[in-house]
Amino acid sequence: MKNNNISSSLIPHPSSLILVTGGAGYIGSHTLIELDKAGFDFIVLDNLSNSSEKAIRRVEKIINKKIPFVKGDIRDKKLLREIFKENKIDSVIHFAGLKAVGESVEKPLEYYENNVCGTNNLLEVMKEFGVKKFVFSSSATVYGEPDKMPVTEDMQTGVGITNPYGRSKYMIEEILKDLFISDNSWKIAILRYFNPVGAHESGMIGEDPEGIPNNLMPFITQVAVGKLPKLRVFGGDYPTHDGTGVRDYIHVMDLANAHVKALEYLNNNNDLNEPLIVNLGTGQGYSVLDMVKAFERASGVKIPYEIVDRRPGDIAKIYANPNKAKELLGWEAKRGIDEMCESAWNWQSKNPKGYKGE
Ligand code: NAD
Ligand code: WQD
Repeated sequence: MKNNNISSSLIPHPSSLILVTGGAGYIGSHTLIELDKAGFDFIVLDNLSNSSEKAIRRVEKIINKKIPFVKGDIRDKKLLREIFKENKIDSVIHFAGLKAVGESVEKPLEYYENNVCGTNNLLEVMKEFGVKKFVFSSSATVYGEPDKMPVTEDMQTGVGITNPYGRSKYMIEEILKDLFISDNSWKIAILRYFNPVGAHESGMIGEDPEGIPNNLMPFITQVAVGKLPKLRVFGGDYPTHDGTGVRDYIHVMDLANAHVKALEYLNNNNDLNEPLIVNLGTGQGYSVLDMVKAFERASGVKIPYEIVDRRPGDIAKIYANPNKAKELLGWEAKRGIDEMCESAWNWQSKNPKGYKGE
């Protein structure tokens, strides 16, 4: 693996490893901490297209352990084969993917190539090596614009999705279902995340988007540190309690912990007759203005905002019914919006320039 930055060869290989794709990213880096806490060993593969190796280095400090890291792409089959040949990989947690909704409308082919073809590639190599345990980062976006709230896992997916990013998640879900039909010895978990926010309590890792953030929470925190002048609230006339969009925000550490539970579920259940599909949310919907107020409480910083036109493609309201995750995984979100905002502020105020400020 000459051209890749591999530190795994320096480290004694444990008997079985989890391959974490996209592990340098926002959710992946937080999940590494929970995996380590639960006693799992892992190797990270990330092409760093939307992240920094510094995140991995900081997680190493938090867990006080060297992390085997491969800089590379899930679309590179040769590299994947080398990774599977050199390491005894038992399962894969697959975070790697492009995720900017607006960009996906501009560059649909890049999104389908990276997300759908990349995942297909990864699954093919897993199959070659007989590795059949797979945890996938899906999204509430697969529900499109649901007609009932809260959203349950048996509701229709794939209809009314407004962008290629969302459709790529739906397509991958369908590929995974077909794969299971073809060979039911696969153990697959499809995790439908709602809106992950916040950061690890250390403030050493967090969300560090490139350029102007698309998502609400990093936008708010960048206004708070003075990087952006004010928040634009997209739409004040939705049929919600204050007219602004309602979402199910979930603390990234709760989300991270759900991956451990999902993996344990796959490890402990040998008679699965379908892929496990679960919503990961709190079940609680908060509006944009609720989040602004909570953030102001947590940080003591006033967030100037103006209400502007709706953002194309947005829906008024979506929140999860998280009961299935509780019943099957014994998992539920523990942290509320105050903790989400405090931890997001802790990360942003300690790292006003994100990882670039180091
Ligand atoms: P992120 O961009 O921070 O992390 C994704 C990581 O994947 C990045 O480190 C990026 O460099 C890497 N990557 C991208 N393409 C790759 C490729 N071809 N090969 C190797 N590495 C590649 O995003 P995140 O917020 O941590 O999201 C992780 C996963 O969860 C993504 O699949 C995303 O679609 C999904 N998801 C995220 C959200 C959210 O709001 N953050 C919600 C639902 C689902
Ligand atoms: C939340 C609310 C906005 C920014 C997106 C993807 C989804 C998932 C999570 C990956 C909405 C409002 C936002 C701003 C605002 N990602 N808002 N001003 O749209 O629920 O979901 O991220 O799977 O696929 O679509 O999250 O954080 O962008 O928006 O008023 O500057 O905040 O209109 O009501 P969203 P978001």
